[in-house]
Amino acid sequence: MGHGVEEGMQEILTSFANMLFFKWQAKPVVAATALVFASTATSGASEYFRPNSTGIKLQNGYERVYIQPFGNHGMRVRASILRDPTGRELSAFLDSPLEGPGGNSGLNHDIEVPFLGSAAIRNGNLVASIDTGVLSFFRVEPNGSRSLLTKEYTDTKAFAPRYYTQDFRASSFQSQFDFASDPDEQFFGAGQQACCIDNTVNKKGQVVDLINYNSHVTLPVYMSNKGYLHYFNMPSQGRLEFGTYRTRHVSDEATVVDYYITTASPGDYDSLQQQFTAVTGRQPTPPDFILGYQQSKLRYFNETQVLDIAQMFHDTQVNVSMIVIDFFAWKFQGDWSFNPEFWPDPAGMAAKVKALTGAELMVSLWPSMEDLSVNYLPTQEQGLLATTRDGTGISDSFAGVYTRLIDSTNPAAREFLWKRLNESYYSKGIQNFWIDQADGKFGGTLGEAFENNGQPIINIPYPRAASQYFIGTQEAAGKMYPWFHQQAINEGFANLTGEDLKTECEHMSLTRSTFVGGQRFCSYLWSGDTESRFDVLLQQITAGVSVAASGISSWTLDIGGFDGLNVDTDEGRELFVRWLSMGVFLPYMRVHGSRSCNLPPPNTTQSNANPCPNEPWSYGEANFIIIKKYIALRYQLRPYVKELFKMLQQTGKTIMRPLYYDFSVSDPTVAKGTGANDPTIVHQFMMGPRLLIAPVGELGAKTKEVYLPILSDEQKGQGFTWTHWWTEKDFGAGGRTVSVAAPLDEIPVFYLGSKNDILNGEV
Ligand SMILES: *[C@@H]1O[C@H](CO)[C@@H](O)[C@H](O)[C@H]1NC(C)=O
Ligand SMILES: *[C@@H]1O[C@H](CO)[C@@H](O)[C@H](O)[C@H]1NC(C)=O
Ligand SMILES: *[C@@H]1O[C@H](CO)[C@@H](O)[C@H](O)[C@H]1NC(C)=O
Ligand SMILES: *[C@@H]1O[C@H](CO)[C@@H](O)[C@H](O)[C@H]1NC(C)=O
Ligand SMILES: *[C@@H]1O[C@H](CO)[C@@H](O)[C@H](O)[C@H]1NC(C)=O
Ligand SMILES: *[C@@H]1O[C@H](CO)[C@@H](O)[C@H](O)[C@H]1NC(C)=O
Repeated sequence: MGHGVEEGMQEILTSFANMLFFKWQAKPVVAATALVFASTATSGASEYFRPNSTGIKLQNGYERVYIQPFGNHGMRVRASILRDPTGRELSAFLDSPLEGPGGNSGLNHDIEVPFLGSAAIRNGNLVASIDTGVLSFFRVEPNGSRSLLTKEYTDTKAFAPRYYTQDFRASSFQSQFDFASDPDEQFFGAGQQACCIDNTVNKKGQVVDLINYNSHVTLPVYMSNKGYLHYFNMPSQGRLEFGTYRTRHVSDEATVVDYYITTASPGDYDSLQQQFTAVTGRQPTPPDFILGYQQSKLRYFNETQVLDIAQMFHDTQVNVSMIVIDFFAWKFQGDWSFNPEFWPDPAGMAAKVKALTGAELMVSLWPSMEDLSVNYLPTQEQGLLATTRDGTGISDSFAGVYTRLIDSTNPAAREFLWKRLNESYYSKGIQNFWIDQADGKFGGTLGEAFENNGQPIINIPYPRAASQYFIGTQEAAGKMYPWFHQQAINEGFANLTGEDLKTECEHMSLTRSTFVGGQRFCSYLWSGDTESRFDVLLQQITAGVSVAASGISSWTLDIGGFDGLNVDTDEGRELFVRWLSMGVFLPYMRVHGSRSCNLPPPNTTQSNANPCPNEPWSYGEANFIIIKKYIALRYQLRPYVKELFKMLQQTGKTIMRPLYYDFSVSDPTVAKGTGANDPTIVHQFMMGPRLLIAPVGELGAKTKEVYLPILSDEQKGQGFTWTHWWTEKDFGAGGRTVSVAAPLDEIPVFYLGSKNDILNGEV
């Protein structure tokens, strides 16, 4: 296989094996054999082992690999060919990290290792060791022994674990990196999987496409049940392949392979999240108001409608925190302002809604731009629209017109966009923004994978992925488009308020996509356009906990599902109430969707003017009573939710928690059920440390089987037992399945400790 290399410039393959075909010039070697660590056995678990080196450089002919301490118990590895990393590559790292060593160290290293050389470096409890050229990672246990976490995958006849292909007209390459894994190892995270088939939290055996589209927000990060987290700091498209013996990361275009690995004891996912968010950022706390009930639908299409529902919330004394105005409140795509014909007085509307209900407004903006928009010429002339490699920049169509895309990766475009948003909305008291369709340009502007929204004739008949942004190609950088779109709003907030927004937010954006590190913005992700079905209600749990396990805990969904709910059917109503009851226990409680109903279409020429209601009182009188009860419960739980967000801010502690977070060590049934993606385990979740939620995902159910996990010694030590939320019945320390009554107004919930403490947020 080394012969491929000799063929020249178009294809360069490198590996330890094929390096034999290169003449290797030895450099001065500081330490070529394994380092001796100062008394590892005696350094207690509580005592942090300071890095014993600034870094290792492994030089294999034209390939170079830098390994440096980064954050607590972490290493950053950068590999490139032909030239050193520039340090200016796109990155979601905070450099310096919030906690731990290794910040701003460029390519510093004090150890150089040649081809087939050996060396080791330790930071905290993580050891990176190169043994005759092969890189392995170990955790140092409290007793001083080392446990292998993963290593570059090698075998007598295996593909090179570090493999590069270069056929671009630039210094970029495709890469494929392989790491050994155990057949029974479990992998968690990898972002948010799309609606609706995938019901997994354990990703072993899966191929995860690293591409953004509607409801698919995959992220190149995963945690292992062996006690490590692995993150690829690369916004390129590609794949994660969780095979039986190896995990492979594929990048379609990169100039450096940049990854991070950190360790904690097996089952300690909170520490992994703390270390990971120390190097990628922490979620600032959201404003109090947004933790209440959020009212949205597709769509309120004039000012009167918004005022009418605000009046109704006022009259029926139902609390509401925010009312959302969805798409096509503009005249032309790219206007980033209201159509004055239907929205004559935005400032007055915002003030009246506030006076009636106390609620704030949120307004949708799309990144799409049509020729008739007032902003088309200036953005086109200033080069603020994303382009395509084959010319026009048109990448999609919607509502009968071709669309381009604002290039939020360009700072000038962010400034332009924010200026319009400020003029049209922010300065008028509408200060929360819904960055819908923020997925970027894979497929089309509208973020549908290889589809053009199914519209007739005036559509582009095939997807155009050959997009170019200010920051690079779709292949190399596209996964980070949504991140920059979030940044536009965040910068706008910060510039207007003069606050740095690193720990607290006054206003928020809601986004359909993000990238690793997106948690540092005043923003929350929702799961995109889902189907209104009971099985999807449950599937959303696995999507939510998986993206939370990837560092994105500021998350919600469309209560009721986005598409397919008929408000005037018994089934639709029941589904809505079941979904709403789960929504009480999500980081944000947000009702949204495109509903159908018995009303005739409205007499208007407006696009997508759906007349069907989606308010608490729209689902029948009996249900209204139940819905009011759940909304009231949400307001009761606000101190608890607020405390969870505070913990998330301070230590990265995940809010919506899969059962393996808290119980995989104490309960073999949870560990095993998680591995097998057993629905009884993965369709339940913890909200914070004290509440277990087992949503009902079945039409007509009267009871629910709930698995109560075996409590940890620490939980038992605090005197905790599982107590049923509604009946106060004590179910003990867990380890069994119980059957509880599950009427519509009593979602199965169990709590730990004192209910008062929970309601007061004293946890
Ligand atoms: C040290 O600790 C590890 C992890 O707990 C354990 O697997 C190993 O057996 C221990 N070794 C000794 C010599 O006690
Ligand atoms: C707003 O829409 C409703 C429902 O179609 C309609 O009855 C009302 O006249 C509209 N109001 C304005 C000001 O357009
Ligand atoms: C925020 O202000 C900075 C400094 O003036 C400017 O460079 C940046 O473009 C502004 N961002 C936005 C989104 O307006
Ligand atoms: C925001 O809008 C207000 C009102 O038009 C204006 O006074 C202010 O200068 C604007 N700020 C920015 C950053 O555009
Ligand atoms: C629909 O609206 C148009 C224009 O406002 C009006 O002329 C027409 O009478 C309306 N039709 C109905 C059935 O109300
Ligand atoms: C509405 O919210 C307020 C706090 O903002 C709370 O005091 C009140 O009890 C809530 N009302 C209902 C009906 O839940």
